[in-house]
Amino acid sequence: MERTFVMLKPDAVEKHIIGEVISRLEDKGLRVDAIKMTRLDEKMCREHYAHHVGKPFFGGLVRFMCSTPVVCMVLEGQNAVEVVRKLAGPTDSKKAPKGTIRGDFGTDVQANVIHASDSAETAEIEIKRFFKQNEVFNY
Ligand code: RTP
Ligand code: MG
Repeated sequence: MERTFVMLKPDAVEKHIIGEVISRLEDKGLRVDAIKMTRLDEKMCREHYAHHVGKPFFGGLVRFMCSTPVVCMVLEGQNAVEVVRKLAGPTDSKKAPKGTIRGDFGTDVQANVIHASDSAETAEIEIKRFFKQNEVFNY
């Protein structure tokens, strides 16, 4: 079993599709170990997207990510990292195939509905960044 960190981005919240996205994840057998709505501040966003600091789209990305609350989750399942990345689809919603979450619900490269950890190591760091230990459940 593996854990991954998922964030439903402001466009998912604005479009009222968080339930549909969570259903897709649960339908694949992933278990919700933690879930909460929160609003990112610039510091958290900079930390989360540290690999993009200085890129031309970074300012816009921070404004977008902090524009409404987001929904953070820890999901558990076999190969959870890879399974969720596949369900999410490629970064650019316009290039994401139909049947993927971004292909079906996303708008463009920025408003792409969902963040999912890109490795088990990243997942561990991201889970610790967004959740206290007692907010993540084993059951
Ligand atoms: P994420 O981290 O959100 O799951 O997305 P990802 O791995 O597919 O893509 P990544 O390269 O990590 O980029 C993180 C987020 O930055 C925004 N982005 N905008 N305007 C652009 O060219 C651009 N490139 C990346 C997207 O919101 C992307 O999800
Ligand atoms: Mg990424």
